[in-house]
Amino acid sequence: MSDPASGTPAAFRLEAAGRRYGATEALAPTDLSISRGERVALVGPSGSGKTTLLRLLNATADPTSGSVEALGSDIAALSPAGLRAVRSHIATIPQQLGLVPDMRVWQNVATGRVGTRGFLGGLRDLLLPPKATLVEIHGLLDRVGIEEKLFARTAQLSGGQQQRVAVARALYQKPEAILADEPVSSVDPARAASLVELLTGLAAEHGLTLVMSLHNLELARAHFPRLIGLRGGRVQFDQNPAKLDDTMFEKLYELGEEEMLQDG
Ligand SMILES: Nc1ncnc2c1ncn2[C@@H]1O[C@H](COP(=O)(O)OP(=O)(O)O)[C@@H](O)[C@H]1O
Ligand SMILES: [Mg+2]
Repeated sequence: MSDPASGTPAAFRLEAAGRRYGATEALAPTDLSISRGERVALVGPSGSGKTTLLRLLNATADPTSGSVEALGSDIAALSPAGLRAVRSHIATIPQQLGLVPDMRVWQNVATGRVGTRGFLGGLRDLLLPPKATLVEIHGLLDRVGIEEKLFARTAQLSGGQQQRVAVARALYQKPEAILADEPVSSVDPARAASLVELLTGLAAEHGLTLVMSLHNLELARAHFPRLIGLRGGRVQFDQNPAKLDDTMFEKLYELGEEEMLQDG
């Protein structure tokens, strides 16, 4: 399906899609279209709905209202096999990275394709990988700058290196889209910038759609042509950063009266 504004096909489209958890409206009904190859940063305070939006996009949460289309398919209309197929084209880098510390680096990267290889194929790749698999993974580690860590135990890597393993795992999935949920919140600013540069650069080079939630506004403004600001589960702006002035960001992050009365 194509985006009427630009003529390029949409990677993701929300039509009045929202998500409630009991009395909490994590995401109010939202209309949104993200074109294939677009790079989008989600910004907003904690609890504003960033993770919920990402979970609607990768179909790990169902909307409680409206509809979500991912990579051309209406998620609600898919069979379980169809849903698995769509999910296999969307790589997610979760905030906690989701790496298995006791596995070797190459094994963590290999898990990127387990979902599409079936249980036995996936198991074989992790125990007795064909040489071609190791060569491919070595190439990906080279791309992310840690090729010497192929056989290292993942737990022995620094936080920044583990993030790069998670990026390599996402690439090994050969995705059409990468969704990253605050992937840089736990490292120092220099490492955060270099990871954001790596991901935006890879996305641009491969024509991947990239949607990343980011706490760091400066990074979002510097590296993404489109910023979506969320607050209280509602989109406050959806703009090129050059068109946003500082007051928009101040409004996004200023504490409401109720929030000031709450602890934390
Ligand atoms: N699984 C859940 N169960 C209950 N409430 C949730 C769940 N996920 C998110 N929420 C609530 O929805 C709101 C938005 O959360 P979230 O999407 O995680 O925000 P963010 O990622 O911006 O911090 C918060 O109030 C949060 O407590
Ligand atoms: Mg979150």
